[in-house]
Amino acid sequence: MPAKKSGLEFSLQWPGDQEISSEIMKQVQSNYENLLASQVPGNDYLGWLDWPLEVESQLLERIEGRAKKIREEAELYVSTGIGGSYLGARAVIEALRPYGELKDNKPEIVWAGQNISGTYHAALLESMEQKDTHINVISKSGTTTETALAFRLLRQALEDKYGSREASRRITVTTSQDSGALASAAAEKGYEKFVIPEDVGGRFSVFTPVGLLPIAVAGIDIRDFLAGAAELAEKYRKDFEAARLPVRYAAARNQFYSDGGRVELFASFFPEFSRVGAWWQQLFGESEGKEGKGLYPATVDFTTDLHSLGQYIQDGPRHLLETLLSVKEPKQPLQVPATGEDEDGLETLAGRSFADINRQAEAGTRAAHLEGGVSVIDIKLQKLDPHNLGALLYFFMFSCALSALTLGVNPFDQPGVEAYKKNMNNRLF
Ligand code: PA5
Repeated sequence: MPAKKSGLEFSLQWPGDQEISSEIMKQVQSNYENLLASQVPGNDYLGWLDWPLEVESQLLERIEGRAKKIREEAELYVSTGIGGSYLGARAVIEALRPYGELKDNKPEIVWAGQNISGTYHAALLESMEQKDTHINVISKSGTTTETALAFRLLRQALEDKYGSREASRRITVTTSQDSGALASAAAEKGYEKFVIPEDVGGRFSVFTPVGLLPIAVAGIDIRDFLAGAAELAEKYRKDFEAARLPVRYAAARNQFYSDGGRVELFASFFPEFSRVGAWWQQLFGESEGKEGKGLYPATVDFTTDLHSLGQYIQDGPRHLLETLLSVKEPKQPLQVPATGEDEDGLETLAGRSFADINRQAEAGTRAAHLEGGVSVIDIKLQKLDPHNLGALLYFFMFSCALSALTLGVNPFDQPGVEAYKKNMNNRLF
């Protein structure tokens, strides 16, 4: 792995003079030690902790090889999965290729199986008719209804278009070693298959083939992405002090919750992070929202949502913690043009970069929210690149495990998700 230093930074500002209590800090420290010793609830799902350090080069070569083939053959790549089986890849791809549709868009990457809309999937089928297509179906259980429905539909369309043999060559399955319908289909039809490790749960799986194949298909350097995560995996294992950032984030969230706070807003002035917010939301929502506990994880895009939710954030109930994700060295491709006229009142900004104006909007908003009684946590990336993004996602995963354990819940199960499935299935089958 290349040894590049990730530039993750963190600061925390409480509006009053609240401190993180020594009691909460002690709990986080004991959970940190227990996590690394695998002595925590859900300890059969800790494979993600060292995965970035241990992933075999042979597997990476296979993923890169398959991605290369897909990039050569496909105009359209359909990643089919839901929840942890798609949010991570989408977050990374849309952060690093946010305007991909405008340039270098080969293959076009689309998402299926993350809803049950006939209209959505009908439009996708139309697109498949016109474009050379590869499908990657991703499901650890192999039995998720949304994913299975979409795959049934898309596979049939692919077989109608190319014939069964060629369609099989264009399907990649990412699933468990040998349980579930997808593993059997892969064996029977000879689909290219990547295995999801048993001890890694969906929302912690972005560094496994679940995330890596789609990310590689997007042309993103997966080794650099993994290296960012590996750097922090190694560092956080060293000692409690080395894990200062996730420790502090986990402790702050728990302090805020025990002080009566109920909502954490993931906010950014970088629209590139919109899908990182969706991934973060699932990570914390599904890991912590249990037994009547947990901060509600909400996401906002700024400045867009300042014109819809800004009023509530500034003046509504004071139960909000804002986690503000920013980039220290953003790209600076645009400046305000000089026109020689000032009818719009903007001539004084001529020559200023949009990035600089965005930074001023961010600083002004942070100050306003703090004045309004919102607690603000700042997380800054040095750059928006695969390495820093890998570090960021690993940081969130590690923080989330510590935070949920400190809240007193098992971070790695999701018993509540079964309720809707049971009711839906009773009506369907
Ligand atoms: O985090 C999780 O475990 C879930 O969000 C799953 O990823 C999601 O339910 C999809 O499950 P599967 O991969 O089995 O289709």
